[in-house]
Amino acid sequence: MDRIAVRQSGPLEGTVPISGAKNSVLKLMAATALAPGEFLLHNVPDIADVTWMGELLTTMGMTVERPAPGDLRIIHDGTLVPEAPYELVERMRASIVVLGPLLARYGRARVALPGGDDFGPRPIDMHLRGLEELGASFEFAHGYIEARADQLIGARVLLEFPSVGATENVLLAAVLAKGTTVIDNAAREPEIADLASFLNRMGARVLGAGSSTIQVDGVEQLAPVEHTVIPDRVEAATFLAALGVAGGELLLAGARHDHMDMYVAKLGEMGMRISPDSEGIWAMSARRLRAVDVSTLPYPGLATDYKPLFVAMLATADGVGIVTENLFAGRFRYVDELVRMGADIRTEGHHAVVRGRPLLSGAPVRAPDIRAGAALVVAALKAEGETIVGDAHHIGRGYERFVEKLRAVGADVRAC
Ligand code: UD1
Repeated sequence: MDRIAVRQSGPLEGTVPISGAKNSVLKLMAATALAPGEFLLHNVPDIADVTWMGELLTTMGMTVERPAPGDLRIIHDGTLVPEAPYELVERMRASIVVLGPLLARYGRARVALPGGDDFGPRPIDMHLRGLEELGASFEFAHGYIEARADQLIGARVLLEFPSVGATENVLLAAVLAKGTTVIDNAAREPEIADLASFLNRMGARVLGAGSSTIQVDGVEQLAPVEHTVIPDRVEAATFLAALGVAGGELLLAGARHDHMDMYVAKLGEMGMRISPDSEGIWAMSARRLRAVDVSTLPYPGLATDYKPLFVAMLATADGVGIVTENLFAGRFRYVDELVRMGADIRTEGHHAVVRGRPLLSGAPVRAPDIRAGAALVVAALKAEGETIVGDAHHIGRGYERFVEKLRAVGADVRAC
């Protein structure tokens, strides 16, 4: 499936099961390098990024299996080749997060330097500086980072910016370091709290994850565990955006309202009704959305991953909204695609000014990345005629059964 055909749809009605969080499971998978034995993860989405992270673990010497739908078993026999090759790191930047655990457990790691991507450059200087504080040293040769650390020693790590990846890499190294590490200005995303609870179950001593200061008291060894991945807040946000555009009433089964407070508040300002439900999140959209201004920030601010969804919603909302990106330069490539669908959007530096139109016009477009691809499908729910979203494999990196889930609640969407 590399293309998705979408026709104007709505109202959407029914229940959408929300899958496990991509941005959590990838880090939990990396964390299995910290202890030998057999791990079992539940609520693991069947998406390309999980397959690729599985390939990376397999290349290093682990056994990765899917014993049942939603489950992932990882067996680590204690003898890994601590190396992440370029072909895999290039495909999935998140694989850089194996650096911390490999250093902590094996004292060395050879990891390909990730390149830039469609969002622009994505440096890893903060990851490396944080690990250096714990005593690691790095050399760069032939596109690889050669990392060494005979014994990591706990230290204070002050991050220049609350980077998700840098917080995770330092946390994953600190759990086996000697003594106490304090990460200040840590990222506070729910996926980091999930990683910490996984590590604590393994026997680590992590306090404060989910806040700006994380304290880690190093332990000598960790043990494998069973764990259920938290729900994917970006997937839930995507279905809320689809509901906002197409109208209707949905139950997002398994979604966590408390992981997406700010997003829910914004959609409330736009005219949707959303509330926590014993089974997840209940939501209703009865009229055309009202335009709002949106600015992305680290959690608990509005996630940069939600941004294309806001632009898609504003494209057919009533009024003018300004969307400001504060995290990644140049994350506006999909805007040209929305303009091809008749949207009225101007970008200037890290701002996009979106003037809502009652209806867009179906057109062939291309998905530039995971979230932007999903946002194009969302926008197409309110486009006259047919929209064909090409390069849909990007969407499959992060969304499990995206087309089926949309169809099940009444959207006129099909893989083609
Ligand atoms: C993670 C998420 C991604 C999300 C992002 C921000 C995963 C797999 N990906 O990405 O979906 O959009 O958080 O919520 O979890 N930076 C540096 N130096 C560094 C590290 C980061 O300059 O060493 C910059 C980045 O270029 C970016 C900003 O810091 O401008 C935030 O990046 P970061 O929080 O690290 O994002 P990721 O962990 O890459």
